[in-house]
Amino acid sequence: MLAISGVCGLGILILLSLNSNGFVTASDNQPFKYEIKEFQVPLDHFSFLKNASFNIRYLYNNSFADKGNKRSPIFFYTGNEGDIEWFAQNTGFLWELAEKQGAVVVFAEHRYYGKSLPFGPNTFNKTMPENLAYFTVEQTLEDFALLITYLKNGADLPVVAFGGSYGGMLAAWFRMKYPHIVIGSLAASAPILQFPGITPCDIFNKITTSVFHTAYNGNCTVNIGKSWKAIENVASTDAGKKQISDAFHLCNPLKGPDDLTKLLDYIELVYGNLAMANYPYNNSFLAPLPAYPVRQMCFYLKELHKTDADLLQAMANALAVYTNYTGTVKCLDISSNSNADDSGWNIQSCNQMVMPFCSNSSDTMYRTSTWDFKEVSENCVRDYHLTPKPNDIILRYGGRDLSSISNIIFSNGLLDPWSGGGVLQAPNDRVHVIIIPEGAHHLDLRKSEPADPPSVIDARQKEATIIASWIEEFYIWSKK
Ligand SMILES: *[C@@H]1O[C@H](CO)[C@@H](O)[C@H](O)[C@H]1NC(C)=O
Ligand SMILES: *[C@@H]1O[C@H](CO)[C@@H](O)[C@H](O)[C@H]1NC(C)=O
Ligand SMILES: *[C@@H]1O[C@H](CO)[C@@H](O)[C@H](O)[C@H]1NC(C)=O
Ligand SMILES: *[C@@H]1O[C@H](CO)[C@@H](O)[C@H](O)[C@H]1NC(C)=O
Ligand SMILES: *[C@@H]1O[C@H](CO)[C@@H](O)[C@H](O)[C@H]1NC(C)=O
Ligand SMILES: *[C@@H]1O[C@H](CO)[C@@H](O)[C@H](O)[C@H]1NC(C)=O
Ligand SMILES: *[C@@H]1O[C@H](CO)[C@@H](O)[C@H](O)[C@H]1NC(C)=O
Repeated sequence: MLAISGVCGLGILILLSLNSNGFVTASDNQPFKYEIKEFQVPLDHFSFLKNASFNIRYLYNNSFADKGNKRSPIFFYTGNEGDIEWFAQNTGFLWELAEKQGAVVVFAEHRYYGKSLPFGPNTFNKTMPENLAYFTVEQTLEDFALLITYLKNGADLPVVAFGGSYGGMLAAWFRMKYPHIVIGSLAASAPILQFPGITPCDIFNKITTSVFHTAYNGNCTVNIGKSWKAIENVASTDAGKKQISDAFHLCNPLKGPDDLTKLLDYIELVYGNLAMANYPYNNSFLAPLPAYPVRQMCFYLKELHKTDADLLQAMANALAVYTNYTGTVKCLDISSNSNADDSGWNIQSCNQMVMPFCSNSSDTMYRTSTWDFKEVSENCVRDYHLTPKPNDIILRYGGRDLSSISNIIFSNGLLDPWSGGGVLQAPNDRVHVIIIPEGAHHLDLRKSEPADPPSVIDARQKEATIIASWIEEFYIWSKK
């Protein structure tokens, strides 16, 4: 998940829109291969009157499966908010484990994302708000349940769900609701507790601040804390607006006050993304980034500056670590509504994914912002005709009451701002909590790399052992 922030009170888990800035998309540099297939699902699983259907996409590779074993396990990735190929390429651990454990690999695309659009090009057409009615977690889990049932083809097979971020939330919820279909789930960096009333709304921004504070030296967060006002001060004149537009190489130079707000919101979003993708090696998950990008960024903010103009220039240099690491981005486009995947998450934030974010400038590097559900709700009605239900997810999946669940691994990196909404204590001994002190956002799901810190190598070994034990147990108890 990408991102975040108190921006309009909406959390954005993945920032695919940045692709329009010249960032890499799923098609670049793909190490993993699969067949692309489609599967027909009912538009509305919960109606006995409607009969409409559409196709979701899934990726399939059975070359690791032992052809002599008619009951090979299936490793099933519960797709989240984006094109499924992007997740397949960034979830190398599933592939490595499938090879070791002889499993069939399946990555299923989430409805309303990628190419799994129920109403084709009209899916997000503003004149047809009713098209959004089937965009829920429950409809999606039901798609996955039907697909798995079809793939099993009558055989009794062990299926393990995998997911990261929102996909990890889905993997966990899938096991909770369909324990007869999956024997267990790996829910990596899954903030299933990031919901109203059960987790403080400032936790994401506090963790991000602490990651930045320790990355290079303490001046980094001091500078960021001062930058909001500094940029505002500079923007108070037309000459200042031009100075900012030039420093950040904005595609659309600042004009009105809305433009300044958009720039500041964009910058805020980048900090969350950097913390999430603060991996120990260079990568292109969210954007082409160097190893430990937060440290790289803070390197440019290591000195205190006497004037707003100096601080502004330092900020622009620092931001370029995220926006222009390749040095090939002509200008910075801060509009974040450029593709369907982005609008997808905004819509989910307006029905079930009501995740409160806030911050207090006295203990974070952010501006003070409050969580105002009424405002969020009004914006959702205005934008999508949707009235969010802030308690829906807790009602359906239990919030902090997880005492009856089983066979779920919750892994969390402590450098990941989303860990604040993660399950960090096992509710019983059938649930496993794995903490990765040196890990950013679902680092454990990524493929093995020489620069991996010991804690993630250890986490992957534990996950592999637990998953193997579920499979072994399954074969013992279902000797058909
Ligand atoms: C499945 O993955 C293996 C290993 O990467 C690869 O050799 C094979 O070509 C893939 N199969 C398909 C159908 O892409
Ligand atoms: C419902 O769908 C099934 C399968 O596609 C089809 O055979 C049937 O005629 C449809 N019924 C109605 C009422 O549209
Ligand atoms: C949205 O749907 C209307 C019909 O209701 C159609 O005229 C219009 O072209 C569609 N908009 C887009 C962007 O496809
Ligand atoms: C990482 O850096 C190396 C060396 O500069 C480069 O060849 C490679 O393409 C980079 N990888 C990514 C994913 O950016
Ligand atoms: C912060 O910046 C000041 C002024 O540039 C510098 O003297 C000081 O050493 C820096 N602080 C740290 C912890 O490096
Ligand atoms: C990106 O870097 C290149 C090379 O340094 C520079 O010419 C360009 O202006 C930069 N673009 C942005 C948006 O910073
Ligand atoms: C921020 O923290 C300060 C100091 O703890 C407190 O006085 C203030 O009320 C807080 N502001 C908000 C909006 O919570």
